[in-house]
Amino acid sequence: MANHPTKYLLILLVFHSIFFGFGIRQSRACHPTDREALLDFKRRITSDPLKLLHSWIPNKDCCTTWEGIACDPSSGRVLNLTRPGLYSDSDSPVDTSLSGTLSPFLGNLSSLQILDLGNLKNLKGHIPSELGKLTNLRYMFLNSNDIEGSIPSSLEGLSRLQSLYLSNNHLMGPIPKDLFKKMTSLSQLWLAENMLSGSIPPSIGIMLELRYLDFHDNNFSGSMPESIGRLQNLLHLDISKNQLSGPIPGSIGNLSNLMALDLSNNRLSGSIPPSIGNMKSLEFVVLSDNALSGPLPTSIGHLQRARSLILENNNLSGNIPTTIGNMAGLNAIYLSNNTFTGKIPPTLSRLENLLTLDLSENRLSGPIPPQLATIRNLQDLDLSSNPLSLRTIPPWIQQLSLFRLHLRQTGLVGQLPGWLSSSSLSTLDLSDNSLTGKLPGWIGNMTNLSFLNLSNNKFHSSLPHQIQNLSLLSDLDLHSNMLSGRMTRLFSKAAGFALGRFNSIDLSHNNFSGPIDAGIGNSTVMGYLGSLILSHNPLGGTIPKSLGKLGYLQVLKLEGNGLSGEIPEELAEAKLLGTVMLSENSLSGKIPEGILNLKNLKDFNVSSNRLSGKIPRHKIKIPVSSFAGNPGLCGAPLAPCKN
Ligand SMILES: *[C@@H]1O[C@H](CO)[C@@H](O)[C@H](O)[C@H]1NC(C)=O
Ligand SMILES: *[C@@H]1O[C@H](CO)[C@@H](O)[C@H](O)[C@H]1NC(C)=O
Ligand SMILES: *[C@@H]1O[C@H](CO)[C@@H](O)[C@H](O)[C@H]1NC(C)=O
Ligand SMILES: *[C@@H]1O[C@H](CO)[C@@H](O)[C@H](O)[C@H]1NC(C)=O
Ligand SMILES: *[C@@H]1O[C@H](CO)[C@@H](O)[C@H](O)[C@H]1NC(C)=O
Ligand SMILES: *[C@@H]1O[C@H](CO)[C@@H](O)[C@H](O)[C@H]1NC(C)=O
Ligand SMILES: *[C@@H]1O[C@H](CO)[C@@H](O)[C@H](O)[C@H]1NC(C)=O
Ligand SMILES: *[C@@H]1O[C@H](CO)[C@@H](O)[C@H](O)[C@H]1NC(C)=O
Ligand SMILES: *[C@@H]1O[C@H](CO)[C@@H](O)[C@H](O)[C@H]1NC(C)=O
Ligand SMILES: *[C@@H]1O[C@H](CO)[C@@H](O)[C@H](O)[C@H]1NC(C)=O
Ligand SMILES: *[C@@H]1O[C@H](CO)[C@@H](O)[C@H](O)[C@H]1NC(C)=O
Ligand SMILES: *[C@@H]1O[C@H](CO)[C@@H](O)[C@H](O)[C@H]1NC(C)=O
Repeated sequence: MANHPTKYLLILLVFHSIFFGFGIRQSRACHPTDREALLDFKRRITSDPLKLLHSWIPNKDCCTTWEGIACDPSSGRVLNLTRPGLYSDSDSPVDTSLSGTLSPFLGNLSSLQILDLGNLKNLKGHIPSELGKLTNLRYMFLNSNDIEGSIPSSLEGLSRLQSLYLSNNHLMGPIPKDLFKKMTSLSQLWLAENMLSGSIPPSIGIMLELRYLDFHDNNFSGSMPESIGRLQNLLHLDISKNQLSGPIPGSIGNLSNLMALDLSNNRLSGSIPPSIGNMKSLEFVVLSDNALSGPLPTSIGHLQRARSLILENNNLSGNIPTTIGNMAGLNAIYLSNNTFTGKIPPTLSRLENLLTLDLSENRLSGPIPPQLATIRNLQDLDLSSNPLSLRTIPPWIQQLSLFRLHLRQTGLVGQLPGWLSSSSLSTLDLSDNSLTGKLPGWIGNMTNLSFLNLSNNKFHSSLPHQIQNLSLLSDLDLHSNMLSGRMTRLFSKAAGFALGRFNSIDLSHNNFSGPIDAGIGNSTVMGYLGSLILSHNPLGGTIPKSLGKLGYLQVLKLEGNGLSGEIPEELAEAKLLGTVMLSENSLSGKIPEGILNLKNLKDFNVSSNRLSGKIPRHKIKIPVSSFAGNPGLCGAPLAPCKN
């Protein structure tokens, strides 16, 4: 029927209906009910930029010429409705999109087995309840669209369904209570990234074939149903980022095939059930950001395939069980921000594959077992904020080839150990300790450093000139020490071609002397600076105009510095500035209007200076206290100007 002249259209249409009516053909053409349903679907598509429905021409046989449609040849009924244009000629996925709403007529495709309208991005409106009539449906893909409203309870009749993908839409309301009751063949259930609420119905336990259950990023509340433990074929269970409360049911231990468990970012409480040790297939254990308490069960040691153990931001207590050393597959341990006590178990040294060990923010006591030196692959060690009373960084740490070392608030005293000079560290955080002495010149040998935090210590010296050699350094925090001298060399340090330009600099609460270099904003290495904090130093001098050239600067804090002169209006050229703190200086003159009207401005404070004149009009609300202590200032929010 290709390339017929349009004038024969009518005749052909008549022919068509005769064929259907009397069943002359062996391979039946499109059933009129189905054709009508598909045409109604097409009619409600308001935009088809990629011409996906281009071949859906009314007088052509939908079974043989319409892209994305496949029929049962004996009945002419449509079996498959798949995203047309999903694959290009080269068999690689192409981008798809359609705008419009879903037609209720789709419910008339009574033989339909596959409905794949996923990832069309712009399908809007509700899921028509008529889809509940599609009792032969095996696969329903409506994911990654703009669909809203609730899941119609009529879908509970889809007892042959094997895959239900509704993720990444704007669905809301509860899951209909009986939705799952007849879905005994369902193997994949994806409802993630919607706004679904209410509790997870216990009838979920009926779907014994279920392998993938993904509800992450919704607003489900209530407790996890005990019946979840019946789903023994589950491979993947993700209910993260919801509002679930109550305990993790002990029955979860029955999920012996489960590979990935993610219950993070909920409000789960109670203790981790010891039955977790029965989940022998687990590779990813993610229970972080809940309110779990009690001990980590010793049975955790049975999870020999586990690669990640992520339990941070809970209230787990007691000792870290020594059996953790049996979890031979572990790459990453995150136990940060719990209330674990006792010693760090030496058995951790058995974990040959361990790359990351984060035990920060607990109540672990020292010393660190030196056996950890044998974890050859360890790259990232964070033991910060534990009462370890370390005094010195254990020298055996140099036997590891760490990229990141965090020993914030661990009781370090004395000078920086010289062996650090030959380390390959890229991140070093030794803040909140009592380290003393000079910032050593050999710091310039740590050429892989990109993040250095030595804040809140007692270093007293000037910045060694070798600091200029840190060509990868992008974040430097030296605040709250007793460092002195000029900062000049920092602003002209070496940088790699793309890396090593500064992202943040905090030199506040030191004894650095000024003035701030006039060319600070001219230097390439400052070009991407987002945060510059030089508060509470005896800097003096004026605020350099060149700061206005820092097009990425969001935070500028220069309080408590004895700066004088006017606030340069050029500062308003740093368009991303959101925080400008200039209080407790000796600044004079008017407040430039441009600064007060920066688009992103949120925090602004010029209190306790010698500013004068009318405060320029501004849109954001700035409290009186931000202008206070400038006798010459007037106008809202201060008192009106006289005359
Ligand atoms: C329907 O789609 C499925 C999956 O793509 C395919 O296996 C099947 O052959 C299709 N049915 C027909 C009648 O083309
Ligand atoms: C198909 O479905 C629509 C809406 O659900 C209905 O109005 C129509 O009569 C049905 N039947 C046929 C044969 O199109
Ligand atoms: C989430 O559900 C709670 C009730 O459990 C409700 O108060 C809240 O408004 C919901 N939030 C959203 C974003 O829907
Ligand atoms: C599932 O777990 C519960 C509680 O741990 C247990 O009583 C039950 O026997 C288990 N069921 C199966 C089928 O293993
Ligand atoms: C520590 O965990 C608690 C929950 O137990 C959380 O409220 C808090 O924000 C976490 N702190 C940090 C720094 O993440
Ligand atoms: C953490 O658990 C302890 C008991 O182990 C309890 O006293 C404390 O209130 C809990 N903290 C939170 C934030 O739940
Ligand atoms: C920096 O890191 C690279 C790559 O890990 C390494 O080869 C090099 O030895 C390190 N340099 C220093 C000075 O440690
Ligand atoms: C730092 O590097 C320089 C030049 O490579 C070298 O002479 C010096 O010994 C190194 N200092 C330390 C403490 O490793
Ligand atoms: C450095 O450490 C201090 C104290 O631990 C912390 O408050 C600060 O945010 C850290 N600096 C950076 C740049 O992360
Ligand atoms: C530091 O860089 C300078 C050049 O900027 C170079 O002469 C010196 O050898 C470097 N020092 C180290 C320790 O790498
Ligand atoms: C601050 O630095 C100056 C030199 O710039 C020095 O005279 C003074 O003693 C230093 N003050 C402290 C408290 O270290
Ligand atoms: C910074 O650069 C501008 C030109 O872009 C120039 O006028 C100014 O003198 C420079 N300032 C310093 C201190 O180098």
